[in-house]
Amino acid sequence: MVAGSGLKLEVPGWRPAETISMADIMPFPMHHLEGHNHSLTLWRRDDDTLLVMNGRFHLYQGYSPAEVVAPVRLAALLGAEVLLATNASGALDPAIPPGSLVVVNDHINLLWCNPLVGAWAREFGTQFPDMSEAYDPDLRRLAHQCAAEAGFDVFDGVYVAVLGPSFETPAEVRMLAGMGGTVVGMSTVPEVLAARHMGLKVLVLSLASNPAAGLVDRPLTHEEVLESGREATDSLKRLLGNLVERTF
Ligand code: HPA
Repeated sequence: MVAGSGLKLEVPGWRPAETISMADIMPFPMHHLEGHNHSLTLWRRDDDTLLVMNGRFHLYQGYSPAEVVAPVRLAALLGAEVLLATNASGALDPAIPPGSLVVVNDHINLLWCNPLVGAWAREFGTQFPDMSEAYDPDLRRLAHQCAAEAGFDVFDGVYVAVLGPSFETPAEVRMLAGMGGTVVGMSTVPEVLAARHMGLKVLVLSLASNPAAGLVDRPLTHEEVLESGREATDSLKRLLGNLVERTF
């Protein structure tokens, strides 16, 4: 499980067994980012293990695509079968109010890079992995069901990944909405590509923390994104509790 900006994830019924600093196990230097502490926590429930990555690596911080996906590849090598990722995004669709959760059903990669570029890592998977159903339909259905049971609405939509770290211009937002995007963010797609490459099932929940640039008449700030994450933590926790319960 990957926790996005400002999202502090806990799963009811599971106990945190151990937390490891990412700096202690990754063979590259860490770059600090407010709201992200870069650690891995092992949660346990009976014989099941949930590996939670608190604070992901972003390309805009200067990490290489291979570094960004290293924790997902580590989890896959340790036997993980499902990648459940959360992130914060800007809503491209004015019908999506800030604070809404969007179950990602597809993506558009505008990062202009892909973690699978380079010598074919045969040990990880095929050279040309299929992405026609990158976001698992059963898990998406389950997410909608768990959200309904937890008592809140969720949306469904396409996540557009851009490099950042500057937010988009209003013209870019019009373009991204016009090309079929529902929300825009600066993460997750590299991890999804690496996870699908290694055969993991993927579910991504995006917290639309703000209307994208130009849809409201005020500047966007990272604080607004973090605050929205804090406000959504409770509903997300309930949803994830149900979801993890049913996924295992
Ligand atoms: N744009 C890109 N990334 C984001 C945004 C946004 O508006 N909000 C949170 N992450």
